[in-house]
Amino acid sequence: MRVRYSYLPQQFERSEEILAGIRAHLKTCQFTLGPEVAQFERGFAELIGARHAVGVANGTDALMLSLRVLGIGHGDEVITSASTFVATIGAIHAVGARPVLVDVRPDFTIDPARIEAAVTPRTRAIIPVHLTGDVSEMDAILGIAQRRGLAVVEDACQAITATYRGRSAGTMGALGAFSLHPLKNLNVWGDGGVIVTNDATLDERLRLLRNHGLKNRDEIEVLGYNSRLDSIQAVVGNWLLPQVPSITDRRIANAARYDNAFARLEGDITLPPRRPETRRVFHLYQVYARDRDRLHQHLLEQGVDAKIHYPIPLHLQRGLAHLGYKAGDFPEAERQSTFVITLPVDQHLREEEISYTIDVVKEFYRSR
Ligand SMILES: Cc1ncc(COP(=O)(O)O)c(C=O)c1O
Repeated sequence: MRVRYSYLPQQFERSEEILAGIRAHLKTCQFTLGPEVAQFERGFAELIGARHAVGVANGTDALMLSLRVLGIGHGDEVITSASTFVATIGAIHAVGARPVLVDVRPDFTIDPARIEAAVTPRTRAIIPVHLTGDVSEMDAILGIAQRRGLAVVEDACQAITATYRGRSAGTMGALGAFSLHPLKNLNVWGDGGVIVTNDATLDERLRLLRNHGLKNRDEIEVLGYNSRLDSIQAVVGNWLLPQVPSITDRRIANAARYDNAFARLEGDITLPPRRPETRRVFHLYQVYARDRDRLHQHLLEQGVDAKIHYPIPLHLQRGLAHLGYKAGDFPEAERQSTFVITLPVDQHLREEEISYTIDVVKEFYRSR
């Protein structure tokens, strides 16, 4: 059996409705900031339970513009997780600030107990990353931010509709950044991103920043960027938005199937802590595996397209060498790069594909 990782052909199999929406859009020719974008923003804000949602070009820009709207730039430091997708660090770098990394916990989120030691007089913000679709320990993080006068921007790119103590990921800090990249739970036909906030002033300023700072056709209020969500991508997003709850439920159910099976493989497979206060949406399904690389090889040989996120920790990447970190600085992130494996968990997986994947993992450890 082959268990593929990418489910995009199935996801967009029934593309007629989307294409009809795009054809209708073609007649209007409002390719930038058309009514579809405003419709998507309203739907997204409602889904997340935020007052405002601003469509932007991608998730990286959603983070970058969030920092920019808070006035963060040269000479400032921004604390974030040592284990994230590089875009979080790239967004901090893009506004001219210095990324300061903090090690993670076994659940892949930033360790709040280590944040305070990383705060300096230059620190302006914390970006907790809700990696894999789990939510960072927000009460502790918001407490530190309040005590030290720091802003919180949530990197919720992997965590659409995840919750922490009943609150939606992305709505607890000043701003929350989401990605609509084809690999995300809510995915469009290219790049896209969204910023959510409950602050009307930030919303207004973000709308200027994403569109060259133009107040109207002739007046420039502030120097901004070209970072608009394309109208065509909003058509795709509008089609998918109502499906997010069922997509999420399916992913959660698939993850529960794996969790139950792997609980019996103690010592070989270790589940990350499953905290009761979070609703995880499983953008990624990751576990710790003994002999990870051999298991990965075995899964690939048996047709299961498992992945490694990420084999080289960020602080040891050549492109980040200028930050001055070295091996041993973030032991938990390093441990995760050695032991963590990602299995397919998407909403289109068939029951027999999950069973087969579980059997391949079991068989690997039985034969050793
Ligand atoms: C944690 C995280 N942050 C930021 C991003 C950036 O999003 P995008 O690819 O839409 O720029 C991604 C996804 O790619 C991500 O997974």
